[in-house]
Amino acid sequence: MKGTKVPQKISIIKPDDWHLHLREGDILKKVLKYSAKNFSRALIMPNLKKPILTYVQAEKYRREILKYLPKGSKFNPLMTLYLTEKTNPKDIKSLKVNELISAIKYYPSGATTNSTYGVKNFEKVMPVMEQMAKFNIPLCIHGELPGENYDIFDREKIFIEKVLDKIRSRLPDLKITLEHITTSEAINYVKSTKKNLGATITVHHLMINRNHIFDRGIRPHYFCLPIAKRKSHQKDLIQTATSGDRRFFLGTDSAPHLSSKKESDCGCAGIFSTPYAVPFLAEIFDKKNKLPNLEKFVSLNGARHYNVKVNVERLNLIKKNEPVRLKNWIRAENDKIVFFGSEFKLYWTTEREKNAKKISREN
Ligand code: DOR
Ligand code: ZN
Repeated sequence: MKGTKVPQKISIIKPDDWHLHLREGDILKKVLKYSAKNFSRALIMPNLKKPILTYVQAEKYRREILKYLPKGSKFNPLMTLYLTEKTNPKDIKSLKVNELISAIKYYPSGATTNSTYGVKNFEKVMPVMEQMAKFNIPLCIHGELPGENYDIFDREKIFIEKVLDKIRSRLPDLKITLEHITTSEAINYVKSTKKNLGATITVHHLMINRNHIFDRGIRPHYFCLPIAKRKSHQKDLIQTATSGDRRFFLGTDSAPHLSSKKESDCGCAGIFSTPYAVPFLAEIFDKKNKLPNLEKFVSLNGARHYNVKVNVERLNLIKKNEPVRLKNWIRAENDKIVFFGSEFKLYWTTEREKNAKKISREN
């Protein structure tokens, strides 16, 4: 019929989220199903109130996550340990043997939520990182250097110059993920390297820039760390994510917090983006005419970086003729958790279904 648009439908390998905060207790219970719906695996961050420092703690936390999974879900939480200046280099070898731990997370002390146990001086963790390079355990880095003298918008750039570049030149064999990059400088730095450095990009940093945080008032639900930068950086991030470049892949950094903790005189950092993360990515890639690269960004590049098999499950994406009605929040701990994205138009939805049209699987 003339003028009637047929909804577009594509099928991709089910995505991975290479950076996720699930929390514990009631919040975990409420948010987990959204990851299980659109992702096969996720790399689970260890910055709980009591951080995950040991193998035994990680094992227990993983069991708690599995307990809350929806029936029949094959979602696989990949665990991380929190690096501190007290982490014992001698413990690294055994981590490789038992395979529960997929990566170790480097938080510069004071850089973000629950980071006080993190690293103040990277020299102190060099022996641990040497062992990680030797036993092939990846390091995930929150790449910001906090400090009174550093402008919050420059912290990523400064971390790369003062810390990351030094670590890499001394340990070229250490596999590193520079997490949630937000600047053109970070993009260029990653692009200037040939091996062992990849970067995750979040959905929210593709969708907002720093103006959104102050749009007609202060927007606590757009506050995250690293903080969103100016629009030119956002444009570079979109160009990079949609390019298909193997070094860049999805890590949502979805970080649920109770509303009362965000809407406060000292609101905490974190954006809960999981529920619409994949549909919004379809929207972004579609707008740039780059849908054939979506699967690389969400399902292939990360698996390659972490040297794991790509997922077997698939996910369908459907483009509707009308914008999708977005849910705003869910209840947790007698409070609520606000979803990212309800102010944006979204035409894409996801569904688990067979027989969808395949798009490029070029690897
Ligand atoms: O905005 C953020 N929230 N950035 C982080 O690095 C941590 C996260 C959290 O745990 O809430
Ligand atoms: Zn994070």
